[in-house]
Amino acid sequence: MITPKRALIRWAGSKKKLIPVLKKSVPANFERYIEPFCGSISLFLELPRSKAILSDINDELINFYKVVKVSPSYISLEMAKLKSTEENYYRIRSLNPANLSKKERAVRFFFLNRHCFNGVYRTNKLGLFNVPYGSKLTSVPSAEEVMDFSRFVRGVTFECGDFEAVIERAQLNDFIYLDPPYAGRDVKDRGEYGQIKFSEIDIERLHSALVQASARGAKVLLSYADIPLIRQIFAGWHIETVSVGRSVSGFSKGRMKVNEVLIKNFVNEE
Ligand SMILES: C[S@@+](CC[C@H](N)C(=O)[O-])C[C@H]1O[C@@H](n2cnc3c(N)ncnc32)[C@H](O)[C@@H]1O
Repeated sequence: MITPKRALIRWAGSKKKLIPVLKKSVPANFERYIEPFCGSISLFLELPRSKAILSDINDELINFYKVVKVSPSYISLEMAKLKSTEENYYRIRSLNPANLSKKERAVRFFFLNRHCFNGVYRTNKLGLFNVPYGSKLTSVPSAEEVMDFSRFVRGVTFECGDFEAVIERAQLNDFIYLDPPYAGRDVKDRGEYGQIKFSEIDIERLHSALVQASARGAKVLLSYADIPLIRQIFAGWHIETVSVGRSVSGFSKGRMKVNEVLIKNFVNEE
């Protein structure tokens, strides 16, 4: 089996750097993998392939994955036709996705994601992508990388929607990994995932949904910033501090060094 070498897209808050730690917290046995805040799906790409539901509230992101899964050659051929220039970037950004086919929207999303500032997905009030052209760009994934990705996600169902809808379906032998946006009194909303707001009330909602999934027998792993609110809401769960000392922007005091916590309803066997 070919494992993709890297995620196809750049994504704010990607868990790339935490993968070695996260992998140690994945249960040894499960049948189905569920990731309700999937973003660039960096953890899933590092695991042995399994049946999975990957979902996110970002419709453009999920449309992209659905198209890549079935039409990888179309994506790479169309990407190859587009010149990586600033002028071309703004021309493509100005296209309204509502006037494009699903396949065209996927190519537009991929091109903008690979060429925009820091891989953030910010939109205006009308929901239209408004991130400026980026300067520190990395190479666009090759046709081979796109093909490997498409093969890897063959058994995956991609869904667009709120996290609660997918968590509700989790059962015994499912493993749910969650990496929601940071929320809390100290966190400023920077709009890095579009017009969607994730706030303290969503953490409460997440907690209730996970308590129910846990009662149905699903294994749960949640990664989050080590803030008092999360420890308070998930009191009674297994909580491990991960000293990444990551500098996280978006906090009202500017960039703050914040550790991560891994919260689980199970214990990994040694
Ligand atoms: C921190 S990112 C996940 C990053 C991912 N783990 C990775 O490695 O790339 C959080 C994701 O949650 C999504 N999101 C925000 N609110 C949501 C909601 N209510 N339901 C589902 N997804 C949501 C955002 O679109 C974003 O992709």
